[in-house]
Amino acid sequence: MTSHSSSETVLMCAALLVALGAMASAAGPGVTVSEFGATPEGTPVEQYVLTNANGLSATIMTYGATLTHLLVPDRDGNLGDIVLGFDSLDGYLAGHPYFGSTVGRYANRIAGGKFTLDGGEYTLAQNNGPNSLHGGRKGYDKVVWQAKIVRRAAGPAAEFTYFSPDGEEGYPGNLSVRVVFTLTNKDELKIEYWARTDKPTPVNLTNHAYFNLAGAENRGILGHRLMLDADRYTPVDDTLIPTGEIAPVAGTALDFSRLKRIGKDIKQAGGDPVGYDHNFVLNSKGRSLSLAARAEEAGSGRVLEMYTTEPGVQFYSGNFLDGSLTGKGGAIYEQYHGFCLEAQHFPDTPNQPGFPSVILDPGRVYRQTTVYRFLTKPPRRGAQ
Ligand code: GLA
Repeated sequence: MTSHSSSETVLMCAALLVALGAMASAAGPGVTVSEFGATPEGTPVEQYVLTNANGLSATIMTYGATLTHLLVPDRDGNLGDIVLGFDSLDGYLAGHPYFGSTVGRYANRIAGGKFTLDGGEYTLAQNNGPNSLHGGRKGYDKVVWQAKIVRRAAGPAAEFTYFSPDGEEGYPGNLSVRVVFTLTNKDELKIEYWARTDKPTPVNLTNHAYFNLAGAENRGILGHRLMLDADRYTPVDDTLIPTGEIAPVAGTALDFSRLKRIGKDIKQAGGDPVGYDHNFVLNSKGRSLSLAARAEEAGSGRVLEMYTTEPGVQFYSGNFLDGSLTGKGGAIYEQYHGFCLEAQHFPDTPNQPGFPSVILDPGRVYRQTTVYRFLTKPPRRGAQ
């Protein structure tokens, strides 16, 4: 046995304590659950932190089954939080444009807040000009979900469930919704959705995360390059309701069939405020889990790939952000600070007989799977 002087022993003990402290603060792979405040009605809100074997982590809170943090490495292995959001629950409660929210019962717009189904006429909240947006005044983004840890071979996972009663926000039928978030050890955030109803009802569920691959505290997203595997899109009127037409993107600002800088043609994208806020018709047609999008940020080397079973994706470039919201770490969210890739069925489908149906019938199960995969790439040759 080697003998140590007393000063050596003190130093070794100190080093051991520092090492133990580091182990305690850096959570290993798995799921941790903690309190994240309470709603004004006093309902407690919890957050679930999923950490995978490579140290990536995703945090989802029970208010709105909201993705609040997503830490992924840059090309040098430094973790950065790549989704917009707030440091505390108060930021979310004060009102926000669906940062990381689970959106339902119907993501995107329904014209005039009205639709007919089996001869019945249904009236929804007009919470976006004349239209109903993202489930109405109190959609699934503003309710507290039940949650628990679930076991998945692919990596740490948590399940969020919500019971949406018949008539809630004007929609017919009791709807039971289940969403499982898994942060796989292959560095994918997999979001799986299920729903069952007792009356026919439209269902369109999505996640509304705003990504900024440079890190959410950084400059805007116009320098990111984006590819969308979509040759067509659904043109809209000036209230963002589809005209019913399905048009080619070729020759328009909406052509992202090859990687293109988001900012390159944005001034020609139309809209007020100007920018992308369009439903792209995926070439996969939603037949299987397929690549829908790829985004790259040259500075960090971060790359995001999105796969989905849905037939459409709303590419939204954060046009309505205007600097009035201060997010995590004091970042001011100016226009184009983050972008969304919302997997979905097409907007206003309940009023568009030509679009793939969104009606869920009793006895059937609604299913949706979307995977966001994270990787990095080396700098381009010649780049500093
Ligand atoms: C969706 C819509 C946008 C906007 C955002 C939230 O992406 O398509 O028009 O409403 O949600 O601000």
